[in-house]
Amino acid sequence: MKFKYTIIAVTIAASLNNFKAHAQADIKDAFKFATGQTDVMLTETAAAKAKANNAKLVEPRNLDNNGNLHIVNAGDWCSGFFPGWLWYLYEYTGDKKWLTEAQTYSSFIESEKNNTGTHDLGFEIYCSFGNGYRLTKDPAYKEVIIQAAKSLSKRFNPTVGAIRSWGAIGQPKFTVIVDNMMNLEMLFEATRLSGDSSFYKIAVTHANTTIKNHFRADNSSYHVVNYDQETGKVIEKVTAQGYANESAWARGQAWGLYGYTTCYRETKDKVYLEQAEKIAHFILYNPELPKDLIPYWDYNVPDKAVQSRDASAGAIAASALLELSTYSKANSKLYTAAANKIIANLKGYQPAPGEGKGFLLLHSTGSAPAHSEVDVPIIYADYYYLEALIRKQRLHDHQSVVKQ
Ligand code: GLY
Repeated sequence: MKFKYTIIAVTIAASLNNFKAHAQADIKDAFKFATGQTDVMLTETAAAKAKANNAKLVEPRNLDNNGNLHIVNAGDWCSGFFPGWLWYLYEYTGDKKWLTEAQTYSSFIESEKNNTGTHDLGFEIYCSFGNGYRLTKDPAYKEVIIQAAKSLSKRFNPTVGAIRSWGAIGQPKFTVIVDNMMNLEMLFEATRLSGDSSFYKIAVTHANTTIKNHFRADNSSYHVVNYDQETGKVIEKVTAQGYANESAWARGQAWGLYGYTTCYRETKDKVYLEQAEKIAHFILYNPELPKDLIPYWDYNVPDKAVQSRDASAGAIAASALLELSTYSKANSKLYTAAANKIIANLKGYQPAPGEGKGFLLLHSTGSAPAHSEVDVPIIYADYYYLEALIRKQRLHDHQSVVKQ
């Protein structure tokens, strides 16, 4: 594959050696900051819960523009990220304090394993119980993952060849968003854990349908594709959280990158590796990508000077690129260097220690068109930031990037 903008590639790759020498110290410092912030987050979460006096509000999600901590219920698509954050702290530190907190916060959302009304079960259950099972092999967690995979599979439509993202099962308009690529990892794991190959087949079919219909000639992706659920025909390709139907919503590109990297890990099908590489190159060689490699919320939004960044898109891409670097022979150094640069630059997005109600990263953007969560800390940015730090450490230690 021939790529343009070789100078950018060389510049990114040249920075690799600078980061190598500091790998462990940087990560140690980042986790020192993270553990201090997590103590703050736990205190702030307890205070916000007490104030709300609503037992259904269980997990922190974001700060609003006035700096108030927003706590959500188990059914919120972001409910699994704080448990996952705690599992990553336990993984890195080995401190039982974080194990206990991770178990507690995971338990708050176990009921979601039976929810067939959302496609977000991968985010909810795999970031929490998936990491929990990976680190503890608790058989009860295994059952939670398998049950969640069964619930998610109910949203699969063989005529469309995809899992329904939004809307109730049976609704004529069948919506699939690129974010849904993130829910497949749980299905692959469920097949491994249960021996039931139907989860694997659903994941592969969904990934293939998404390659066919979500991507443009320049390898960017649409956010939303609506299908006719009876015929499987594409009705329209549009956006919900991006600037325009034909624009590239930044987090969507990161979800695709991460999703296809995972699909390659699970299947070893080169089509997925190539798709991940194409997305990586759309991101890394994009003239609209700022020098610090943290994108604005949409690559094509005009008037960048007044637009917000999306730190979460940077963190997700960093984590994905570290894994992709272990599969992509030709671009391994480029991806590692880019990921390390993002990780280093995200330091500039952190609050002062003890501030930000315990969040690790400021400046994410949830949905700019809806004026929702614009330029605020959002929990998934922190989750993928911690994941990227752990992956960086594992690469430094010559271990598989994803601990099994
Ligand atoms: N739907 C997930 C996201 O906002 O990225």
